[in-house]
Amino acid sequence: MKVLMINGSPRVHGNTYIALHEMEKVFTNSGIETEILHVGNKDIRGCIACTSCAKTGKCVFDDIVNETAPKFEECNGLVIGSPVYYASANATLIAFLTRLFYSTHFDKAMKVGAAVAAARRGGLSSTFDELNKFFTISGMPVASGQYWNSIHGREAGEASQDIEGLQSMRTLANNMTFLMKSIALGKKTFGLPEKEPFQRTNFIR
Ligand SMILES: Cc1cc2nc3c(=O)[nH]c(=O)nc-3n(C[C@H](O)[C@H](O)[C@H](O)COP(=O)(O)O)c2cc1C
Repeated sequence: MKVLMINGSPRVHGNTYIALHEMEKVFTNSGIETEILHVGNKDIRGCIACTSCAKTGKCVFDDIVNETAPKFEECNGLVIGSPVYYASANATLIAFLTRLFYSTHFDKAMKVGAAVAAARRGGLSSTFDELNKFFTISGMPVASGQYWNSIHGREAGEASQDIEGLQSMRTLANNMTFLMKSIALGKKTFGLPEKEPFQRTNFIR
């Protein structure tokens, strides 16, 4: 069982990392393999709507997005962490996620998702909502915790003083572990839910 953890901060060991690392310790104690992938410090461009991925199943820009795709396909859970920038996720992270989710065609259903936001003061829950949208359009159950998964701090390292924030991360990781294990058991017992052929109507036809 494996969890892929995406760090959307340009600060590799900043407050987002502290939140992810707190979760990572819980996963490790539960025997779950983890990998933290730093994307916020990379030069990642946005989607250009060329739609070539519809034919190839990969992004036309052959960078960290295509490198991450097989790791995403393999994992049982995906954690996305972001610093809050103007009450939103870091733009580099969104460019990465947009291209990753859009270009890959493997079934993401029942991979468990969890979103985490780090900020000085405000915009945490709008960022949390923004990140969760990637899961909920993909048939991915969302793990929840004891709050809207957030941690506070401004300078890198300050989040380690946010006792409640750290506890939220541990609770989230424990809940996510339970959910992933339950889904693995459910898949064996019942199989995945059947899917209807997709009806894409664009509202007008
Ligand atoms: C461009 C920019 C915009 C920011 N916008 C917000 C904001 O809207 N709300 C907030 O509370 N903090 C804001 N911050 C502060 C960061 O969210 C905060 O420092 C956070 O801990 C950074 O996480 P990191 O250490 O993982 O990079 C902003 C920081 C930067 C650089």
